[in-house]
Amino acid sequence: MTRPVACVTGAGSGIGAAIAAMLGSRGYHVVVTDIDGPSAQKVADSIESAQACSLDVTDPGACDELVNGVVAQHGRLDVWVSNAGISKMQRFVDISPADLARNFEVNVYGVFYCGQSAARAMIALGTPGRIINTASMAAKQGRVPFLADYVASKFAVLGLTQAMAFELAPFGIRVNSVCPGFVATPMQTRELAWEAELRGSDPEAVKQSWINDTPLARLETPEDVAKVVAFLASDDADFLTGESISVNGGAYMD
Ligand SMILES: NC(=O)c1ccc[n+]([C@@H]2O[C@H](COP(=O)([O-])OP(=O)(O)OC[C@H]3O[C@@H](n4cnc5c(N)ncnc54)[C@H](O)[C@@H]3O)[C@@H](O)[C@H]2O)c1
Repeated sequence: MTRPVACVTGAGSGIGAAIAAMLGSRGYHVVVTDIDGPSAQKVADSIESAQACSLDVTDPGACDELVNGVVAQHGRLDVWVSNAGISKMQRFVDISPADLARNFEVNVYGVFYCGQSAARAMIALGTPGRIINTASMAAKQGRVPFLADYVASKFAVLGLTQAMAFELAPFGIRVNSVCPGFVATPMQTRELAWEAELRGSDPEAVKQSWINDTPLARLETPEDVAKVVAFLASDDADFLTGESISVNGGAYMD
């Protein structure tokens, strides 16, 4: 029996790297993908059964090519995690059309293209696959400063998750999202600096304000998110689809 195969996008850093490691520890063969190929390779090297591939999620042809290559090599594709995402903090009135377009290209179109490629393969293989999208706490509430384009893109991920779940259910494919809060990753380090500058504050003060906003009183770790993704990928979640699970220490409750 071969290992089940899981692909993770944006897995060269932060949350994606933790998801790849978590799925590896649960017995999956992990395909670690990122637009930054060397980072993906480094993460794959630390996992028992893994391989690295460069993948820009904004390129639908590349998504198809990657999925077809994985299926040709392993004969299966069980789990797809669309995790790649970008952010740039700025005031709503300052967001340029180019920044808005780039945000949607990665955060929405990337999830869309990858979901299509993975679903096509899972349907062709007759696999009861699982697709998990990394959304955000900012996918459920717009009370988030300086991230209007990001908020809009993550709300779109929730709608897309539900539409995919509905259409893919007849094929036995489950589709869900995770909605993290304030997760300590390189993205967060960039956001702390941006928010501090925009508020005329300093990054440590901003970080403390985020912890103060979190009832469980600490920053979230990438592993906090990865454990929920592993649950959604598992048979323990086998009657769960179209959901968007908050994992944020209580920072936003819905
Ligand atoms: N860090 C947080 O607090 C937080 C909170 C909620 C949601 N998220 C979401 O979690 C996901 C991961 O975020 P993170 O904090 O680990 O960020 P990160 O910046 O540490 O990692 C993101 C990874 O995505 C890759 N990437 C960027 N553009 C890509 C593209 N076009 N194709 C493929 N890969 C690409 C980057 O190279 C990087 O390795 C994102 O979707 C983000 O929006 C993060």
